[in-house]
Amino acid sequence: MAKVYKKFVVANWKMNPLDADSAVKLFSAIREQAVRARETLVVVAPPLLFLNTLTRLGNDKNISFGAQNCFWEEKGAYTGEISPTMIKGMSADYCIVGHSERRALGETNEMVNRKVRAALRNGLTVILCIGESERDAEGTYLEFLERELHEALASVTKKQLSQILIAYEPIWAIGGSAERSCAPRDVHEVVILIHKFLKDIFRVSAALEVPVLYGGSVAPENTEKLVREGRVNGLLVGGQSLIAANFCKIIEIVDSLVF
Ligand code: PGA
Repeated sequence: MAKVYKKFVVANWKMNPLDADSAVKLFSAIREQAVRARETLVVVAPPLLFLNTLTRLGNDKNISFGAQNCFWEEKGAYTGEISPTMIKGMSADYCIVGHSERRALGETNEMVNRKVRAALRNGLTVILCIGESERDAEGTYLEFLERELHEALASVTKKQLSQILIAYEPIWAIGGSAERSCAPRDVHEVVILIHKFLKDIFRVSAALEVPVLYGGSVAPENTEKLVREGRVNGLLVGGQSLIAANFCKIIEIVDSLVF
């Protein structure tokens, strides 16, 4: 039986690096650290162009591959799109869906929902990203998060819950230009709410077991606090996943935490 992981560190390489040699080099360094983990799964989501090259290097212990996006149809006349069937066929088991950078390009909750359902149908585990663009004192962002979850998970079945991870990524905390990551206690508040919303949607206690990750300006320096005080099951890392030494440190810290 496949090992069940409680902790996850996801590398979202976005549109980097620029060539396959650099991707192989970065991946090889990450793999060395990942195989040493005791209870953490490292999911590497490179540009799909490099996926075959990387999966051929070996689907090692504690490593899985993911796509950063997928289309909602299995095949057909959809120029430029990649289907979840193709992604699964390339030995990837995970798919990030609804990342804020895709939503900024026009992806709606309805489109996210179609992608979520197609990915699940094809046996992929979905890393569903949600996150508000700003926090207001009145707490409107909580309603926004609830709506994102409800609409993205419409028609998803209780049975499919085990194929879902939620990544809480406040948009204001993402990327090099972000001033700061989210305060760990605020992350914890959202983790509790996500589980409550999931319980409302699915009406089973398994909803409380869905792993929740945090993403947004994660670095070795804030990893421990975010995971320990934010009470997340792991992290989704952008910029720092391109710097092998820093990403390896993040894996090491997450794996060393006991909770
Ligand atoms: P960041 O990106 O770690 O560079 O803030 C996170 C993400 O966009 O998933």
